[in-house]
This record gives sequence, C-alpha cells and structure tokens, in this order.
Amino acid sequence: MLVHAINNAANNATYQFPSGFTSGFAADVRAGLTRKQKELPSKYLYDDVGSALFEVISHLPEYGLTRADERLLQRHASEIVARLDAPVAVAELGSGSGKKTRWILEALSRWQRTFYYPVEISRSALVMCERELSDIDSISIVGFEREYLDGLVEVAAHRQRHQHLFVLFLGSTIGNFDRPAAVKFLAELRRILEPGDSLLLGTDLEKSSAQLLSAYDDPVGVTAAFNLNLLARINRELDADFDLSQFGHIARINREARSVEMHLQSKRRQTVHIPASDLRVDFLEGETIWTESSHKYSAEEVFQMASTAGFRCDAQWIDDQWPFAENLLTAV
Ligand code: AVI
Repeated sequence: MLVHAINNAANNATYQFPSGFTSGFAADVRAGLTRKQKELPSKYLYDDVGSALFEVISHLPEYGLTRADERLLQRHASEIVARLDAPVAVAELGSGSGKKTRWILEALSRWQRTFYYPVEISRSALVMCERELSDIDSISIVGFEREYLDGLVEVAAHRQRHQHLFVLFLGSTIGNFDRPAAVKFLAELRRILEPGDSLLLGTDLEKSSAQLLSAYDDPVGVTAAFNLNLLARINRELDADFDLSQFGHIARINREARSVEMHLQSKRRQTVHIPASDLRVDFLEGETIWTESSHKYSAEEVFQMASTAGFRCDAQWIDDQWPFAENLLTAV
C-alpha cells in the first residue's frame, strides 16, 4: 500500500495575492464584512478546530445527516459498486475523516486493486482519512491538499487508460452552494470527467422546520461553537479583536431558498478591528454575519439538477430514518 499526500505548493511559497493582502482569507473577510448583509464564506469554518467540532456535530442526536449518509453507504455499497463500469479509480471531494468511505472502498477492493484519491483543503482531515483507511486490502491512497475541482483535475491527469473515475461527493456538501451555484459546480465537475465516469452525490432532503432548527442549533451548543470558531479563527489568524461573548449563534429557515442558514448575531453596537484585512467594522445591535446555508432538496429535483449538469441519474437510495438521498450519476 502506498500512502502519501501531495501538498499545495502555495503553502511553502511566498505567495502574493492580487489584493495585496497576505492571504486569500484576509481578502475574503474584507470583501464579506463590507457587504450590506455581512457574510463570510462557509469554507472558512473548517480549520483544525472547526473540523473537529464538525466531527462532534455528526454524532449529535439532533443532526442525523451524517449517520443517514453512513447507513446508506453501509447498506448499499456492494450494489453501488456493482453498478460501476470497472476498473475504477476513486476520487473523493472533501473526504473528512474518511470513515463513511470505508464501505465503498472495502466493497471495491473485493474486485480490484483500488487507487483512492481524497481531495481536501484541510491537511489534518487528510491525515486523519489516510490513517482511518490505510488498513483496507488492495488499496493505494494518494491525498491531494487542494480545492475540490483543482484536485479533481490532477486526479484525472493521473488516471490510467481504460480506467473510469468514480467521484464521491458525500455528506450533502453540495447543499452549501446555492441552487444555481450547485448546478454550475456539477457542470464544471462533469467537464473534468469522461463519459461513463460516475459521481455518487449525497443530498439532504427537505424536512420540517422544527427538525432543521434543532439540527442546526443543538441544545448542547456544539453548532454554536462551530459557528463562533470562525470569529475566533479571524482573531487567531488575522489578529482581530472580536469579543466572542458579544456574538450569538442563530439558525434561521429561508423558505424561499429552501435552506437553513447559520448567522452570527451582534449582541450590541460594537466596532471590531481586523488589522490583516486593513478593516474596521461597525455592527449594530442585532445585525448578523451570514456564515452558511444548507439547501435541502426534493428527491426528484436531484434528477433534474443532474441532467442539467450533463449526468444521468442511474439510481437513488433514500434513508428510512432521516430524509437523505444517495444518488448514483453517470456522465453522459
Ligand atoms: C458540511 N455540511 C454539509 C454541513 C451542513 O449540514 O450543511 C455543515 C454543518 N453546518 C452546521 N452543521 C453542519
């Protein structure tokens, strides 16, 4: 078994960002906090602390999404794998800990020697994933520390002749894009693939507002900590002076967008300084920073999205305890 990670060259290089800031993070924070509705990109929730808190969220009784994803993969892995055009190399976008991928890789390794390429922006998640899966027989793991589509382009360049790519995009991460952006992302992903390649797409389905609000604002406060950690991260990395006790976590249903949103709400009028972004931000009492949207889908809608993006939906499995669908799409 071969296990190694290909790191992002930018981590070791002196990198000049176009805005003149020392990092893309500083520039994105400035852009987001100078909008009328202040916002921060949800990808920044996942530093080492945020990734660890998300792992805890996935164990909360109120947040059934990850367990539904795992149940479906555990129950249907053999059937999913049997539907693929072998031999395949597996690429996973946002592998996280890699725990739920085990079922798929074990089912595949009964048939073939498998190359598994996790693509992750979080180095610690990549290390965790490699550690979790390295005991599977007949598997070679090569991790890519990259943004999703950049990583997939590199994986595609490594494919051998006659090998199909099988891409995993699990956990309803697609739901963190708004609907048009989700279709655009799927279409861009499709352009990297060849006809006959496959995509296993996890999508969280619509459920009651009460269920969503307790999933995204749990009584223990783990999701609140996950959200507030974004301000702590800005303090740590951009030398800012957010007073975390003066912001609260809120989850809000957006009926029009069919999503649940997370916001950080200012408890009073205040001013925050973010030196690395060259920014002074004023907050009114009650004003919010929008940090994430999780869109929820109908089962039929996924077929439509897939076909608009250049895929055919070959099969769909829906969990019987938490409305969540695993969709097997083929590039046409
Ligand atoms: C990663 N993503 C699919 C999660 C979600 O449900 O949107 C992130 C999350 N946010 C709050 N809880 C979990």
